[in-house]
Amino acid sequence: MSLKETILDYLNHCFPASVSYSELANQFSIDCQTVEQVIKEIVSDNMPVIVQSQFVRLINPILSRSAINSRLTTSFVGRATLLHQSIPSTNDWIKHQVKDLKEGTLVLAHQQYSGKGRLGRNWSSPAGKTVSMSLLLKPADQLLDYSLLTQLAAAALVSALEIYCEAKIKWPNDIIVQNKKVAGILTEAEYSGSFLEGIIIGIGINTNLEETDFSEELKLKAGSLKVVRGTVDPNLIIARFAEKFEQLYTEWLTTHQSNHFLDSCRSHSALIGHTFWIIDTHSADQNHRKALIQTINETGGLVVKYLDNSETEVLTSTHYSIRGEHGYL
Ligand code: BTN
Repeated sequence: MSLKETILDYLNHCFPASVSYSELANQFSIDCQTVEQVIKEIVSDNMPVIVQSQFVRLINPILSRSAINSRLTTSFVGRATLLHQSIPSTNDWIKHQVKDLKEGTLVLAHQQYSGKGRLGRNWSSPAGKTVSMSLLLKPADQLLDYSLLTQLAAAALVSALEIYCEAKIKWPNDIIVQNKKVAGILTEAEYSGSFLEGIIIGIGINTNLEETDFSEELKLKAGSLKVVRGTVDPNLIIARFAEKFEQLYTEWLTTHQSNHFLDSCRSHSALIGHTFWIIDTHSADQNHRKALIQTINETGGLVVKYLDNSETEVLTSTHYSIRGEHGYL
């Protein structure tokens, strides 16, 4: 662990208290000048700290491997964790070293500068106020239907967030709190030729962003847990997610039943029973049609009934975007 990560971990451990430079110097047997240099670096990384007269404190809890590990009782999810200060994308980072990483490895970053969303969109992850994490799976079954894993991850995430708030799922991958998107999931597969090397489940959570961190445009659809219910601990959410994900995933692999997590997706759905615009992102004119959302079927598809001709269709997540009458929901 680098000195910077060690100091950040200590500040996190002391949150919300301020820590003096001399305490840091004593704690890690270094001189105050070195402490000053590291704190300068932390400030230039845009981490959420307040520095005043040789005292420093965090504005909110930040990602910490030790804080996650101390809460984990899983057998493989999160058993290996890697934490980066700033990388383009945790999903891409795993892709580049997929062969060398173990199943269940969790890659985290305080900040991503080229975060990716579904349908080729960008995902913004400002430093220290968001969770950017990717989980690597290496299933023995090469033919596993990994499109269902986004639904499984959504069910695990909603369950993990329950300690803070009630969340809903906007199929296929958005997590909603009080009508605003607070988290998103991007599941990708990495192949060598036709061999499935791994499945990467990327999760971004707007944990401690302030209202002012969102652009006027983004504010209309995006929110954060802090805005809704005050400061949250990202490590607690990650540990709870890892536990729930491992439980659901293991059950699924042994029983081949998807209903135990799909039932949760259905009961937490922000869409089922309501009318929405369905946008076919693959059609040249981004064709819009209104439909009543009926359910999620056993393969994770969204079953909709179009209002113009009463026909029923099962939508797959790679093609469609769903919009409400007046915008996002
Ligand atoms: C979406 O809502 O469209 C999905 C957003 C997924 C964002 C996460 S953040 C961690 C991981 N790395 C990425 O580049 N994307 C995912």
